[in-house]
Order: sequence, then structure tokens, then C-alpha cells
Amino acid sequence: MADMTRAFVIGHPIAHSRSPMIHGHWLAAHGIAGDYRAIDVAPADLSAFLDRVRRGEFAGGNVTIPHKEAVFEAVVHRDAAAGAIGAVNTLWIEMGELVGGNTDAYGFAANLDANAPQWRMAETALVLGAGGAARAVLHALREAGIAKVTVANRSAARAGELALAFPGVKPAGLDQAPALLARTDLLVNTTSLGMKGQPSLDLDPDALPDHAIVTDIVYAPLITPLLARAASRNLKTVDGLGMLLHQAVPGFERWFGVRPAVTPDLRALIVADLEAQR
Ligand SMILES: NC(=O)c1ccc[n+]([C@@H]2O[C@H](COP(=O)([O-])OP(=O)(O)OC[C@H]3O[C@@H](n4cnc5c(N)ncnc54)[C@H](OP(=O)(O)O)[C@@H]3O)[C@@H](O)[C@H]2O)c1
Repeated sequence: MADMTRAFVIGHPIAHSRSPMIHGHWLAAHGIAGDYRAIDVAPADLSAFLDRVRRGEFAGGNVTIPHKEAVFEAVVHRDAAAGAIGAVNTLWIEMGELVGGNTDAYGFAANLDANAPQWRMAETALVLGAGGAARAVLHALREAGIAKVTVANRSAARAGELALAFPGVKPAGLDQAPALLARTDLLVNTTSLGMKGQPSLDLDPDALPDHAIVTDIVYAPLITPLLARAASRNLKTVDGLGMLLHQAVPGFERWFGVRPAVTPDLRALIVADLEAQR
């Protein structure tokens, strides 16, 4: 047991995290005697926790709110995605030093590749929201070569910051989104609107062209009001759960040495948990 590979997800709070369920499923599926657990680390304790990682107590782990930016600052090396997004969600050790990556953009793209592969043909994308998740989405859209991207946000200043960080992206107010729909091939909601306990997003997808793809990265509920309205218009829709599942793949492979698959079984496990929490 002493040399068992250990990994974690740290956050504060962390009890809500579904990462232990995802990684636990893969450990069992591959017969790996590893350990992945959620650890509540308060901001004041982050530095001491990272020392434990440096000392080799863990192979690495996931990082979530509120630590993604602090860990970005703490690591010695970052992968290209973390550098572009400005946040770290996956941590590992190389030559005794902390290395940080960000797999959210990968997860976003892999989810669309699996469920709406034609998304890569989109010429125009409208991203609603300008928070941390929007940065990952913008990085994925840039990597996919989508030329015309607008980010529409309630706070214009935050949309402007993203436009500066991602040259070529146009900033807009959330109130301008309806007028942009007719020219949108891919609509992405990254605001927390539509999430359980939040107001729903007040945007009628009717003006979208018939070929448009609508994806919502909010996954609780699985079918957000936006996705329901888009589906009722027969538009292609992709829910956000796949992003959560796919973003976990690179970390598991790095820590446990096996690239896991996002299977219907894994999805069903998490869907059942989401249903139980409703
Ligand atoms: N599927 C996945 O794997 C995945 C991954 C990451 C995040 N998410 C989900 O994505 C959502 C956003 O996460 P985040 O980390 O980007 O959050 P964040 O940094 O807090 O950003 C929240 C965004 O929502 C907007 N917003 C919040 N309340 C609003 C309101 N009442 N009216 C208009 N806009 C509002 C904010 O606009 P302002 O800038 O104007 O405040 C901002 O653009 C969350 O629901 C999260 O669970 C999913």
C-alpha cells in the first residue's frame, strides 16, 4: 500500500466534486490499485499542501476553485493551454518540480468532437460569458481555427479583458447577443445562467441558422433551458457533462499511466449522481 499511486482534487469547498467518482470508476475499470480523493484545502493552507506534492506524497492531482490561479503562479512549468488560459486545473511533478496544465479546453473540444464533430467547420462562434471557463473555450476555438469569435458578457469590462488576451476575439455586451445569433454557427454558453439555483439565460435561440450547434457547459441540470429551447427547434445540441468527463482524461493518464475512455457507463454513473442531487 505504501507505494500506491495517489492523486487528488483540491478546492475549497470540495465536497461537491464529482472528480473522485470519475477517477474511481477508471481505477476500478483498469484494475489499478491507486487512490484519488477530494481534499479540502483552504487558501491559507495551499502552500503547505503544495510542499507535500513536491515531496512526492502524490503523483499529482486536479485543482479547482479557488486555487486555479494561485497554482498557476506556484508552478515552475506550465503547458501551453495553462499559459493561454491563465489557470491550472491539472498538476504533476517532473524532476521534483511542480508542473501545471489546463485540460478544460481539451475537454471542451473532445466533447464536441464526440458529439458534434462538424463543429470544427464553424466559421463564427458566439461565446456567452467571460469568466474562467470562457478562457478555456476561447483557447479551444482558437486551436480549432474558428476565425470569427465574439464573446458577449454582462460586464463589458470583462469581455474587453478577454478580447485583449485573445487577439481577434470581439467583445460585446450580453444584450447584443440576440442580434448576433443569425450569423452564429456555434453558440456556447459559459455563463452560470441556467445552472441549478441560478436564473435561466434569457436568450431565444430561434434566430440561429438551421445548421447551428448549441452547447452549454453548465451540466447541472444536464438539459439547461437553453439546450431545451434549441432542441425544440431541432438544432444540434451538446450538453456540458462530456466536457467534465473528457477534461479528466489527460490527468488520469499522467498519474496512473493508462489513457482512460469516456464510456456510456461512466456517463451513466455521473448522470445518476446528478439526478440524485436534483
Ligand atoms: N462542463 C464543465 O466541465 C465546466 C467547466 C468549467 C465551468 N463549468 C461551468 O461554467 C459556468 C461558469 O464557470 P466559470 O468558472 O467561468 O465562472 P465565473 O468565472 O464565475 O464566470 C461566470 C460568468 O457568468 C456570468 N454571470 C453570472 N451571473 C450572471 C447573471 N445573473 N447575468 C449575466 N451573466 C452572469 C458572469 O458575468 P460577469 O462577468 O458579468 O459577472 C461570467 O461571465 C459554471 O456554471 C460552471 O459550473 C463547467
